Amino acid sequence: MPINVLTHPLIQHKLTILRDKDTGVKVFREVVGEIAMLMCYEATRSLPLEDIEIITPIAAATSKTVSGKKLALVPILRAGLGMVDGLLNLIPSAKVAHIGIYRDPDTLEPVEYYCKLPPDIMERDCFVLDPMLATGGTAAAACQYLKEAGARSIKLLTILSAPPGVEKMQQEHPDVEVYTCAIDSILNEHGYIVPGLGDAGDRIFGTK
Ligand code: URA
Repeated sequence: MPINVLTHPLIQHKLTILRDKDTGVKVFREVVGEIAMLMCYEATRSLPLEDIEIITPIAAATSKTVSGKKLALVPILRAGLGMVDGLLNLIPSAKVAHIGIYRDPDTLEPVEYYCKLPPDIMERDCFVLDPMLATGGTAAAACQYLKEAGARSIKLLTILSAPPGVEKMQQEHPDVEVYTCAIDSILNEHGYIVPGLGDAGDRIFGTK
């Protein structure tokens, strides 16, 4: 599955705002939501359409509607929460599942601590949301969890990626389509993406 790097000028412009260390919490949070909305537009390109009959103020017409696709947004706690509203603006009927996984700061391995999925997850296409794809451990663990729960198909929406995360997803979940706005060059010794944008969760929630 190819990785989709979203090069739209608006996305790239907004990504620069996120990268800037002088961008404050309020603007950072708003721009994460805006980028998530633009990513949603790209990630839903292949949604199937069907014709329905409607009546406009002028005449009867045959027009398109999204054909009964059931979606679940799956933010990985906590930074993924920052992307949810942006997608819900465009897909208000989507269910929101939550997966709590954090990276152990010493081992950098994923540790799962909370999961709440809709009961009909096996009938849903899932959009996993995590702003940062660094080592890929968390995203890969979340995808594995969703597959074991029976999710129909999975896409990963991540604002910024690094090569190790991209490689891990391609090795462990080649069927998961990844959407990202940029692939930076390296991770530092703490597992942060360089140049990156810092700790996405701290910048969204103002905890640092
Ligand atoms: N998570 C973050 O929030 N930032 C990084 O650079 C890597 C992982």
